[in-house]
Amino acid sequence: MSPIGVFDSGFGGLTILKDLRRALPGADFLYLGDNARAPYGTRSFELVYRFTLEAVKHLFEQGCPLVILACNTASAKALRSIQQRDLAGIDPTRRVLGVIRPTVEAIAGATRTGSVGLFATPGTVASQSYDIEIAKHAPGVTVYSHACPMWVPLVENSEADGDGADYFVKKDIDALFKPNPDIDTLILGCTHYPILLNKIKKHVPAGVRILSQGEIVAASLLDYLQRHPDMNERISRGASVRYLTTESPEKFDCLASEFMQDDVRSSTVRLG
Ligand code: DGL
Repeated sequence: MSPIGVFDSGFGGLTILKDLRRALPGADFLYLGDNARAPYGTRSFELVYRFTLEAVKHLFEQGCPLVILACNTASAKALRSIQQRDLAGIDPTRRVLGVIRPTVEAIAGATRTGSVGLFATPGTVASQSYDIEIAKHAPGVTVYSHACPMWVPLVENSEADGDGADYFVKKDIDALFKPNPDIDTLILGCTHYPILLNKIKKHVPAGVRILSQGEIVAASLLDYLQRHPDMNERISRGASVRYLTTESPEKFDCLASEFMQDDVRSSTVRLG
C-alpha cells in the first residue's frame, strides 16, 4: 500500500480529507491526527516543526509517497524546513505539500473589494505566512488577520455545536468585521474551523463569501498529480482510508465518524 498521507494536529485535517476523497475516490489515504498534542496553534515554532517532522516520518514509514500537511499551523511553521532541509536526507523522491499556497492562489479571483479576512490560529497569524504569500501571489489584495485561540479547543473537546461556541465565534467575528466592513471574502485558515461552519455562517455579515479550503486543496492536488504523473502512479488505488491518532481511538472515532459520516475505526500511534 502506498496511500496519500494526510496530517493534522487533530480533527481539523478531516475537513480536507473529505474533499480529497471526493476528488480522488480510487486512491488510498492514511490520516494521522496528533490529538494528544493538539492544539498546535499556541505552540512554539520549534515544537510545531518537531512534531510535524515526526508525523511526516511516520507516514513515510507507513509507505506514503506523498504527505499533505492538512494543517495551516504546520504548513506555516514546518513545511518550508521539511521541504528544503529534511526531505533530501530522508527520501528525496517523496513529497510534502501544504495548504496555504493553494489557498492564497484562489484568493485573487474570489474578492471584489480586495479586502480579505483571515481567521487562523495564533501561530499561523504570528508567522505572517498568509501576508507573505498574498503579497507574492495576490499583490492587489489586503488581508486582515484575526487569531481565534478558542476555536480549536472547542472542536477538539466536541463543543462545536454548543452555546459556548456561539459566544466565542461571535466575539471573534465582531472583532474582525466591525473595524473592517469592506471584507467580502473570508479565509478559514485553520482546518478545524469548517467544523464550526454552522456557527460561523450564523454570525458572519451577509454577503461575505467563505472560501472552502478543502475544495481548493483538493483541486490543487489533482492539478499537482496531473503535472507529476510519476507521483500519480506511485499512489495505490484501493479506495481505502485508515486513521491513526496519538490519543485514544474511542475519542477519535466518535467525532471522526460523525464528521466523515462513516464508521471510523482508528488505531493509536506513538510519535517521537
Ligand atoms: N488544524 C490546524 C490548522 O489548520 C491546527 C490547529 C491547532 O492545533 O491549533 O491550523
